[in-house]
Amino acid sequence: MRPDQALAPPLDTDAPAAPAATGSVRPAIPPQHYGLLYGTSQPMRELYQQIEKVAPTSLTVLIVGESGTGKELVARTLHEKSPRDGGPFIPVNCGAIPAALIEGELFGHEKGSFTGAIQQHMGYFERAAGGTIFLDEITEMAPEMQIKLLRVLETSSFHRVGGTEQICADVRVVAATNRDPRTAVREGRFREDLLYRLAVFPLRVPALRERPADIDMLGQRFLDQLNATEKTRKRFAPGTLDGLRQYHWPGNVRELKNAVHRAFILADDEVKVRNPEPPPRNRRVVRRDGSLELTVGIPLPDAQRELILATLAHFGGDKRQTASTLGISLKTLYNRLDVYKHGGDA
Ligand SMILES: Nc1ncnc2c1ncn2[C@@H]1O[C@H](COP(=O)(O)OP(=O)(O)OP(=O)(O)O)[C@@H](O)[C@H]1O
Ligand SMILES: [Mg+2]
Repeated sequence: MRPDQALAPPLDTDAPAAPAATGSVRPAIPPQHYGLLYGTSQPMRELYQQIEKVAPTSLTVLIVGESGTGKELVARTLHEKSPRDGGPFIPVNCGAIPAALIEGELFGHEKGSFTGAIQQHMGYFERAAGGTIFLDEITEMAPEMQIKLLRVLETSSFHRVGGTEQICADVRVVAATNRDPRTAVREGRFREDLLYRLAVFPLRVPALRERPADIDMLGQRFLDQLNATEKTRKRFAPGTLDGLRQYHWPGNVRELKNAVHRAFILADDEVKVRNPEPPPRNRRVVRRDGSLELTVGIPLPDAQRELILATLAHFGGDKRQTASTLGISLKTLYNRLDVYKHGGDA
């Protein structure tokens, strides 16, 4: 056993065997999940370890990961593994609530505090008492609300809109974003002090392409679930799982789940997941101040060229600093620039 395996928290032992197709008996399979999260790859095991450590505390947690990686499942698992398990789990999509309403939605309002406030209203924080509030898409929260949230996190209390009574917030705050929160800070859209306060314990959910070892199991699980609910016995066509492993899944687990669902509906017996379209080749590289955004799947030489040229531009053409920052020799940098000048790729 490798030492990292010895350290990993046990996967949950109550894993039900994959639902058997009607009438068939399957051998028991080893546990494949931790809370609501499925996957046994090393990056997921490391994530489980971190959840296991932080769940018993009441620390604020910031979950970062691409869209569809399972951030909401991570938040729910964290809640499930915490002593607040018996309390409520209240998800709030901060990006979906209009700026004018969000304070009342989060903290509630008193009767008559504004036109239309015909009765006292309990906010999400109050409803989450004894449990967890999940602030999703946190970087989309309006700036004036960010400062109010920071105050709540620092004082553990708040008051309803139009009220004066301080209400104690016995709430564990878990936030999530699928954007890079540091970029949001750099762009002036997100308060740095709030980021530091929220990210007491950051959790990063790995993209599916970083854990191809989980693709088979997740694909099979989604198919098993569909077979169980639809009372069918459809199987993947030979080679399907190999195909799934080849793809880079920019939409992560959600995209995989949807692809299996679509293929399941179309299949009579053998489920064939069509290889999705290759990533778009237009707008592959976006340059912003001090950062580069590269579309997943662009050829490595292109990515390298863009990084070198962007770094050179960043340092105002200073080749020595560019080479040392990139960790390559000055000679290598000159060679590359020479190739680029002549329209080469390498
Ligand atoms: N590890 C996993 N095991 C099983 N199902 C998963 C896993 N990760 C994600 N899913 C499923 O994939 C879908 C997307 O997950 P989820 O909504 O948690 O993603 P997200 O990171 O919150 O995405 P977004 O940033 O778009 O809100 C859900 O249907 C979820 O059940
Ligand atoms: Mg989500």
